[in-house]
Amino acid sequence: MNSELTEMLGLEFPVCGFSHCRDVVIALSKAGGLGVLGTARYSPEQFDIELSKIDEALDGKPYGVTIIFPAAKPDAQPMDPESLRSQVPEDYWDYIGSLKERFGIPLQSVDGPGDGAVNAYPLTRDHALAMLEVVKKHPVALVSSAIGAPPTDAVEELHALGMKVSGQVGDPKHVQRHLDAGVDLIVATGTEAGGHTGEIGSLVLTPQVVRAAGDIPVLTAGGVGTGAQVAAAFALGAQGVWMGSAWLVTQESDLPEPLKELLVKASVSDTRRSRSLSGRMARQLRTPWVEAWEEEGAPEPLLPPLQGVLVKDAQSAMLRAQGGVNSGTPVGQIVGDLTAIRPVRDVLQEIMADSVEAAERVQNAYSGLI
Ligand SMILES: Cc1cc2nc3c(=O)[nH]c(=O)nc-3n(C[C@H](O)[C@H](O)[C@H](O)COP(=O)(O)O)c2cc1C
Repeated sequence: MNSELTEMLGLEFPVCGFSHCRDVVIALSKAGGLGVLGTARYSPEQFDIELSKIDEALDGKPYGVTIIFPAAKPDAQPMDPESLRSQVPEDYWDYIGSLKERFGIPLQSVDGPGDGAVNAYPLTRDHALAMLEVVKKHPVALVSSAIGAPPTDAVEELHALGMKVSGQVGDPKHVQRHLDAGVDLIVATGTEAGGHTGEIGSLVLTPQVVRAAGDIPVLTAGGVGTGAQVAAAFALGAQGVWMGSAWLVTQESDLPEPLKELLVKASVSDTRRSRSLSGRMARQLRTPWVEAWEEEGAPEPLLPPLQGVLVKDAQSAMLRAQGGVNSGTPVGQIVGDLTAIRPVRDVLQEIMADSVEAAERVQNAYSGLI
């Protein structure tokens, strides 16, 4: 297919696929899309290892990474994990203690390092900059900045290394910030999306972001999981799509099997936007853990990065010891369309074949006019 995205990155299909799982990223890029690895789960050292394995498996085929750049306050102090933990009020640790008991979370692993949880590392600027140093050592095709706009000097450095940079926005008013930073691509993330998300639906958001972005190509993210939605993204003016939730239930995904099964059974109504994961609104599977933060008497989730620091070890333990069925995962409303666990390649090929049918339906409706 021809789009500004496929041309920019040398792809067969106009699909970027986000995952924290290396094998999903490899499978996506091998299948003709762009696999994009998330950083939030990794230390810089582990991230380096993951990228080396991807480099070896892909042998020159393009892939991407995302880095979460929280907006820096001018007076921001370096934030090490210990000092962050000490800033969490005592009654919050008490609440976690009560949840540990209620959900039977094994104490041993609760005190572990939190590796494996989606938010294993605090979303601080220091962590983002350390990840950036790792990225610069690898042949990464696209670096995507999540939450905040990437720092302009980082964009310049990445451009000098031949990498493209994209920025994710959930509101058209944030587009200019990313354009000023010098991004090559904008990802318009609608409220339907899994993970951090705003309040505007993709159908409204994409055309407004396209208008605001001018010559810079835009991708639709949030609520894309079928071929019809890929074709719709093009109709809205996007040059491709960015998908995350659909890959969670693939064979290559390293989510525990019980959690994959839960996702397969979930309906479109089984997600919640909640601040319980990181302190920012993130759409997640509605699980007992997420509901516990909404019930009467529960404390208001802390602001980022403290909420992530507070919950990460318990979440990691629930993932490891209980298959993730209590803790859940970020996932978007498209979860209602995920009905089987299949290989990444099959999912991508079916979506692309269905998108051709959807495009034909549009063409038929307009026959005589085009
Ligand atoms: C489990 C999960 C974790 C995510 N974590 C991140 C992340 O760390 N960084 C990021 O840029 N986007 C993250 N996202 C958002 C995706 O990049 C993407 O915007 C979103 O999944 C698109 O909407 P969809 O879920 O409807 O496909 C995450 C999404 C999911 C489902």
